[in-house]
Amino acid sequence: MSRRATWLILGGSSAIGRAMADAAARRGHDIILAGRDTGDLERTAADVRISTGRRASVVAFDAMAIESHGRFAAEIGAQTDVLNVALLFGIMPAQQEMDRDPARAVDCITGCFTGAVSVLQHLAPHLEQKGAGLVIAFGSVAGDRGRLKNYVYGGAKAGLHTYLSGLRNRLRRKGVHVMTVKPGFVDTAMTWGMPGMFLVARPEDVARACLSAAERNTDVFYVPKFWRWIMTVICAIPERVFKRLEI
Ligand SMILES: NC(=O)c1ccc[n+]([C@@H]2O[C@H](COP(=O)([O-])OP(=O)(O)OC[C@H]3O[C@@H](n4cnc5c(N)ncnc54)[C@H](OP(=O)(O)O)[C@@H]3O)[C@@H](O)[C@H]2O)c1
Repeated sequence: MSRRATWLILGGSSAIGRAMADAAARRGHDIILAGRDTGDLERTAADVRISTGRRASVVAFDAMAIESHGRFAAEIGAQTDVLNVALLFGIMPAQQEMDRDPARAVDCITGCFTGAVSVLQHLAPHLEQKGAGLVIAFGSVAGDRGRLKNYVYGGAKAGLHTYLSGLRNRLRRKGVHVMTVKPGFVDTAMTWGMPGMFLVARPEDVARACLSAAERNTDVFYVPKFWRWIMTVICAIPERVFKRLEI
């Protein structure tokens, strides 16, 4: 996909979002950073403009404010020609916190799944009308199997994977490619201080790898790639054994 496009980065304040903005601008694309912390996004936009000479702007977006997504998508659709979307927002409360307070589990589902479906459903007709574009949406290896220590977040990501599979089928008919990203551990605010981290990837490497994979029309992208094999092994463990594991 070599046509110049504008990348809309939903969750632009995430470390991967910042890296994605920089990498996409270096490939010659303009950038719109969307999120709640517009001060943070403005600083990233200024960095992108200075270091790449591409246009970079900021727009307020809250994944939980479902009622605002229709107008948000209409405004993005109206101000862009070819539109690419990177969906990075997500929240991962501690599983114990969600076990104590079911409202936090609902926040996690809304922040990772319902909000993503809502904004993508509103953006989809605009993408179809443009007849080109890429969508890169961040799931997680956690969505491949429900673990004791992360099953609500994993459930939200599993729902997102299934949704994206259908969206991919819908949008390919209009020339838009949808890629599901399944990262392993990445060094970001989400994983800061978490125990038991291993094989941790850098956000910059993840962002560049995702852009290259999406340009090759990859459907489902494990990053780093060895996570596909780790998850194949984890998914092969029989449920009667898996349900006893402390992972
Ligand atoms: N880090 C990992 O190891 C890892 C592994 C697998 C998958 N992932 C996925 O990768 C994506 C990026 O995560 P990250 O690791 O870069 O985490 P992060 O640094 O915590 O970024 C999360 C992003 O989500 C945004 N966000 C949260 N709630 C929002 C809301 N209501 N509306 C709009 N934006 C909201 C945050 O914006 P604010 O600044 O406004 O809070 C932030 O930009 C996520 O989808 C995550 O699930 C990460």
